[in-house]
Amino acid sequence: MAKQKVLVAGASGYLGRHVVREFAARGYSVRSLVRSQEKLACEGPNLEPPIAEFVEDIFIGDAVDRASLKEACKGMDIVFSCMGLTKPLHNITSQQVDHLGNKALLEDAISHSVRKFIYISVFNSYRMMDSDMVKAHELFVQDLRDSGMPYTIIRPTAYFNDMGMFFSFARKGHVFLFGDGKNRFNPIHGADLARVCVDAAENKTNSEIAIGGPDIFTYDETNIMAFEALGMEPKITHVPMWVGDIALFVIGIVNKPLKSIMSFALSVSRMDNVAPATGTKHLKDFFRELAAKSG
Ligand SMILES: NC(=O)c1ccc[n+]([C@@H]2O[C@H](COP(=O)([O-])OP(=O)(O)OC[C@H]3O[C@@H](n4cnc5c(N)ncnc54)[C@H](OP(=O)(O)O)[C@@H]3O)[C@@H](O)[C@H]2O)c1
Repeated sequence: MAKQKVLVAGASGYLGRHVVREFAARGYSVRSLVRSQEKLACEGPNLEPPIAEFVEDIFIGDAVDRASLKEACKGMDIVFSCMGLTKPLHNITSQQVDHLGNKALLEDAISHSVRKFIYISVFNSYRMMDSDMVKAHELFVQDLRDSGMPYTIIRPTAYFNDMGMFFSFARKGHVFLFGDGKNRFNPIHGADLARVCVDAAENKTNSEIAIGGPDIFTYDETNIMAFEALGMEPKITHVPMWVGDIALFVIGIVNKPLKSIMSFALSVSRMDNVAPATGTKHLKDFFRELAAKSG
């Protein structure tokens, strides 16, 4: 039987690399949609695997230039997209990338009779619609639901690469956390999430899957674990949410892209984010690996 062909959009990112590897391991032929192919050959800062050897075909495109995505889905059976704006970039909005970029990809997928579209949104999105990033994800989700294209929407909690950010702060000696640090969540490793994503390719009915990792922690416990992996005394300062709200307001005046990303970070800090659990990879081990790498 001929290999199934899948386009992975966002293949150079944290989740995208794990997904490319998982699709390739299960016998799919993988086309990567990337802005630049340089990252594919080397390990990422959060231990994301190099994936150049798992990719059969590279398509260069940029969500901001929607015309550049035309024909990305030609010859594909499945499209998987975790293409999204996660870092503030001057003059680029979540609406351009998460909503309109993915919409252009969906239109291309429909024109090429792709049989399924798998999309990554966020867990608890309906409670965070004041974040531009979450709103942009959900505008695309609605387009996908309305399109007639068979779909799976995956709604994960935080990934381990975001926990890598806490690790970097801990390494600098001091972590500042918005809120009292008591909210709970279950972050997930990219490899564990990738298995859920690739399972979805064979799922015949339209579905939405909320998913998190195997262990539940508070934000305080997470950061203490990062300090312990580094062999350092934990130093955590809790910053009241209202200080974050004022900072967000001021940042919104001078730097809208940063506001969009920061408002998402504030929103998730305000609530518990515990999704149905899966996976075998533990945050403690991830922090230990990061500590071993950083010497
Ligand atoms: N990280 C989390 O905790 C978390 C939790 C829930 C949901 N999500 C969602 O999951 C998705 C993936 O997250 P991640 O942490 O894996 O992010 P990531 O590492 O930043 O990867 C994002 C991917 O999107 C690509 N991308 C960004 N802007 C683009 C553009 N203009 N044109 C084409 N490609 C573009 C990036 O390409 P470059 O390599 O060229 O930048 C990268 O491949 C995002 O949509 C995010 O909102 C993340």
